[in-house]
Order: sequence, then C-alpha cells, then structure tokens
Amino acid sequence: MKRIPWPQTISPAAYSIQGGVVHSTTYDDPYFASAGAMNEKEYVYIKGNHLGRRFRESRKITILELGFGLGLNFLSTLDAHAATGGDCVLDYVAFEKHPFEKSDLRKCLRESIGAHARVDDVIAKLPPLLSGFHRVMIYPKVMLTLIYGDAAEYIKELEASVDVFFLDGFSPKKNRVMWTPRLFASFRRLAATGATFSTYSSASDVRRGMIHAGFDVGLPKGFGSKRNMLTGTFRGENDSKANGSIPADLTIVGGGIAGCSLALRAAELGMKVRIIESGQSAMGRGSSNPLPLVRPVISLDFGPRGQFSWYAYLSAMSFYRRLSLSQPIGWHESAGLQIPSSDVEWNKMREAVDILALQDDVLKCLDDDSDSFSKLNIKHSRALMIGQVGQLRQCQSFILRLLEGSSVEVLTGKTVSKLAMDSGRLGIRQDSSPFQVDGELVLCNPQDIKRLLPDTDLKLQSIRGQSTQVVGHPTSFDFPICGDGYIAQSEDGGVWSSGTFDVGCDSIECRDSDDLKNMARVNNVLKFDGKSPSLTARQAWAGIRYATHDRMPHAGRIRGGVHVLTGFGSRGFTWAPLTAEIVLSDILGLSCPVERSLKKRISPLRF
Ligand SMILES: Cc1cc2nc3c(=O)[nH]c(=O)nc-3n(C[C@H](O)[C@H](O)[C@H](O)COP(=O)(O)OP(=O)(O)OC[C@H]3O[C@@H](n4cnc5c(N)ncnc54)[C@H](O)[C@@H]3O)c2cc1C
Ligand SMILES: C[S@@+](CC[C@H](N)C(=O)[O-])C[C@H]1O[C@@H](n2cnc3c(N)ncnc32)[C@H](O)[C@@H]1O
Repeated sequence: MKRIPWPQTISPAAYSIQGGVVHSTTYDDPYFASAGAMNEKEYVYIKGNHLGRRFRESRKITILELGFGLGLNFLSTLDAHAATGGDCVLDYVAFEKHPFEKSDLRKCLRESIGAHARVDDVIAKLPPLLSGFHRVMIYPKVMLTLIYGDAAEYIKELEASVDVFFLDGFSPKKNRVMWTPRLFASFRRLAATGATFSTYSSASDVRRGMIHAGFDVGLPKGFGSKRNMLTGTFRGENDSKANGSIPADLTIVGGGIAGCSLALRAAELGMKVRIIESGQSAMGRGSSNPLPLVRPVISLDFGPRGQFSWYAYLSAMSFYRRLSLSQPIGWHESAGLQIPSSDVEWNKMREAVDILALQDDVLKCLDDDSDSFSKLNIKHSRALMIGQVGQLRQCQSFILRLLEGSSVEVLTGKTVSKLAMDSGRLGIRQDSSPFQVDGELVLCNPQDIKRLLPDTDLKLQSIRGQSTQVVGHPTSFDFPICGDGYIAQSEDGGVWSSGTFDVGCDSIECRDSDDLKNMARVNNVLKFDGKSPSLTARQAWAGIRYATHDRMPHAGRIRGGVHVLTGFGSRGFTWAPLTAEIVLSDILGLSCPVERSLKKRISPLRF
C-alpha cells in the first residue's frame, strides 16, 4: 500500500452562522437540518441504528462517521451511551477534512445547540490540526479516533471492525466524494457481521452504492418534513472478533512503563490483568529514570518514524494528563525549548515548523528578534519553543500507587524463563514452575525477550545512558531545554542533565566521566550573568535504552495470543501509551489508532 504523504496541509472549516444554523462556506451546505440540530442527529443516527439497545447488549461498539463536523453526532452518541450506563466500550472513529479551530467550534456549538454538558470536555481533548490519525481518550471506555484528511484517501489506512456507519458528509449533490460507490465498497472490508448504517440522505445513488457494498437497504421516514432517509444492515459475514469472544484476561511480562501503561489501560477497559516482574517492584530498571520528558523532536523526518513520534507524543501528553486528574503522578507541563546545534540544523528546524504548520502555541521559532528570547537565560540565540512538554517527576512511586489502587495484580520477584505451547494453550515457565496463561500474553521485557522468543529477530541493541543531578548553577530557568540531550529543573534543587550515549554497553554503574559530560551540558546551555558557577554532581542514575535498528518500537502480535511491546530506545515514556493502545486495540478488536501502514512499520515481525 502506498503511504499517504504526511503531514498534509489542513484547511480549517470555513463557515457562517445564519439564524442558529451553521453553514459551510466551502461546500455551501448546512451542518445540520434547520429543524433542530441534536434532534435530527438523534433521530437519524442514534435511533436509526438502535444504539440504545446495542449499547446495553454489547461489550464494544465501533462507529465510523464520515464527516465529524461540529461533533453533534458524537455528542448525541455520548448522551445515548451514558444513558445506558456507559459500560459498553465505545470506539468512535471519524474522518474530517476540514476540522474546526477550537474557538470556532465552541462558538458554533454555543449558537446552534446552546449549553451541552460534555462540550468543554470534548473540545479540551481535541488534537491540534495535524493531518492523520489522532486517538483521544474521552472517558476510560470512550475513545475518539479523529482522522484529519480526505476520507476517500485515508479509508484504505483504517483497520477496524465497524458495527455502525454514520454517513454525514454534506449533501451528495454538493460533495460527491463522500458518497461514491468506491468509498462505500471499502465498507465491505471494514463492516463487522451485522453492521448497520444510516444517513439523512435518500438519494437513489447512495442507496444503490450501499446495496452494492453489501447492505440490505431500507427507506424509513426521514427527520422532520423529510419524506425518507436510508438505513441498512450488512449482509456479509466478516471474520472479525465477535463481541462474545473478546479476551478478558491479560498477562504482562515486565513492569516498566510499557507494562504499566498497558496494564492500567487494559484494566480501565475491563480486562483482568496480571503483571509478572522479575525485580522487587514495578517501575525499576529503565523506568526508574528520575526525570523523563515527554516531548516531540522537531526534525525534517516526515517518514514513518517522524509521523509516529508526533502521534505518540500527543497521545502520551493526553495519557499522563488524564492519569494526573485522577491522582497525582508527578506530572508537570510547561513550554520547552529545542536548541539547534548548527546553522544547518536550525534551517531544517525552521523548515519543519513551516511544513507542520501548527498554531503558534504548539510550536514556534524564537530568534534574536523575539522579545521573549532575552528572558530565557540561555547562551543560545535561537531555539524552537514547544508549547507543551511534560515532565514526569518521581512518577515511579505514583505509578505504583495507581497500580495498587487498580484491579491489576502485580507479581514481583518472579522471572519468566520460557514460553511453551501445551495442547494448544499458552504456558510460561516462571522461575522453575510452569504457569498457564489465561487470555493473551504481552512481553514488555527488553532485557530478556530474546531468550523467550529465540525465533524472532527483534534486532535490539543496548545503549547505556547516564543522567546527573547537577547543583551549583545560579541561574533559574522555566522550561526544559533540549538539544543534545536535555536539562530540566529538578524539584529538590539543581537540574537533571540527561544523558550520555554508549552504544553496545550494558553496565548501569554510574561513572564520574559521564557526570562531567552532563555538567558540561548545563554549562554550555545556561547563561550565568557574570556569576561563576561551581557545578557539582549531587547524584546520578544510569539505565539501558533498548533500541531497534530502525529506531521504531516493537508493538504487535507475534503469533496466536503472544504480543510484544518494547524497543523504545530513548522514548519509552513518550511512546509507551500509544503503542500500548495499539496492542490493546488489536487484542480487543478495536479500531487501530494509527494507519495500517504505520502499524506494519512497528510490527515485531518486520525484520
Ligand atoms: C539516560 C536516559 C534518559 C532517558 N530519557 C527519556 C525521556 O526523557 N523520555 C522518554 O520517554 N524516555 C526516556 N528514556 C527511555 C526510557 O527510560 C525507557 O525507554 C523506558 O524506561 C523503557 O521502559 P520499558 O518498560 O520498555 O523497560 P523497563 O523499564 O526496563 O522494564 C522492563 C521490565 O521487565 C522486567 N523483566 C525483564 N525480564 C523479565 C523476565 N524474564 N520476567 C519478568 N520480568 C522481566 C525488568 O525487571 C524490568 O522491570 C531514557 C533512557 C535513558 C537511559
Ligand atoms: C454535514 S457535516 C458533518 C456534521 C457532523 N457529522 C456533525 O454531527 O456535526 C459534513 C462534514 O464532512 C466533512 N467533509 C467533507 N468532505 C470530506 C472529505 N472528503 N473527507 C473528510 N471529511 C469531509 C466536512 O468538512 C464537514 O465537516
């Protein structure tokens, strides 16, 4: 499959509001019927697909909407879902070529539907206007995957087992591309057995297209004064996960950030989860890192790795933000700086910022001309300002507390030494005793994974790194500063300077020579305004990064019920939440949060 170039320019929605009805000035068509926005959506889409009953009877429902627009269908679906207790997992996927800017969306919704209890929550969680896939967790059991781009182009990249199709892409006369037989034909691949669809349109072309795509189509009464609308049921049988066969149990080997983020998320989704960890507690080893950052790296890499890194960064920001709302996890957000090492790199960064075309509060270039630059107390004269960088301060104890408060069972001091298939059931050998695995198994243990999967070439490489807490600098600075490694203010004084880079080294003993390198970074970055610093190393931490040859992670199924989630290199805290979601979606039959082609690029079977 040919990869869709990324990023693509996204033109936001252009609109006018006339008598409370929002009109697209691009398509010259209204977003909803003038007879009542929410009433129309509820009649055509919620009742048209019997969603109330289906939410009560199903463990998961995947909805695919063509045209997210103002999110009215989504809001109506949230209302219907909540009215049934919200226990069914709601996996809502929507294409949108012209997303609204958040402020415009707020205004349009206020003028068209007035107050709605969930609007602020939904808008706050919407992604920036960056093309491609964005998985947003609205509530633990409700996820929204927004795909910013042309549905006709992106549909081939969607992997999902769709239970309900909402066709809402402006009138077929005004916007033919959202109603073509070719687009509908892809529903044959996506539709789950028994899938339904509805649309306010009763056009005969649409009816014929949906019949051709494999649906039995009916012509019930339309909304308000409209004579008819279309509904239908998929005639085919697709070999997707039937609701009853969704696995309920998950065993995870390795309790680092990969294992823990997977466990917490799986427990939220109602799975029975067990972590087996060889250390004395979870969040040891690589994940005992004293101050990891969650940040994007701005470069001209717009291939799969650059694309994946952006998705993962945005996803991690919302993951930790959400966790921190329920309990403190040492999460701290601020702006951050990325400093170029040369003119060439600076030019590349500027070009990347132009191509990404994100709002200034997400990403902007600062140089000598910027008023704000002089206040930054750094020796450099140009930098990128990243609007949101996350710091995880002492997150280990907080994540352990989250695990304790969850239903996840954590078995520590137990090493998994072998995987075996016994009469078709998966077993593991834990120390010397055999152990039957119920449900699915995910390996999140980079140290030892080669031994458990001798036939899979994961091409993992060890890269030692040391971080040092440096004290004695007289300058205060507000933001983490990244470039060659990073420095970030530490809560208990001084800064953490990270990290050194020793390819092929497995030692985690701290070294004085590495402290000196880390102190040099502080000296090279911060301005001391005539005061002479006397930098000293207060403490140090060393860990091993496990990186793959192509610097992409491993996330996916190896065989049967065995999955791998590892190989994060220097990005474990940033990449774990999205990759965990990818693995979990595969296990639970939910839509894939990234492009099919990208999923292949992180498959543990790719080498
Ligand atoms: C200097 C440095 C700076 C870094 N900075 C950042 C940063 O700013 N941002 C960021 O996102 N990332 C950063 N990282 C990377 C990040 O720390 C790692 O990618 C991440 O911790 C890896 O997590 P993990 O869960 O994959 O592995 P680990 O945390 O190593 O967890 C694996 C667990 O599996 C257990 N285990 C192994 N074998 C077995 C077995 N057979 N049976 C049972 N249990 C087993 C281990 O005991 C271990 O607890 C940095 C890394 C270094 C070294
Ligand atoms: C009628 S509005 C959708 C209303 C929306 N369902 C709601 O509930 O608010 C149609 C939407 O389809 C989007 N759209 C039009 N052509 C598209 C395309 N080719 N790909 C993706 N979205 C498209 C428009 O930008 C618009 O937001």
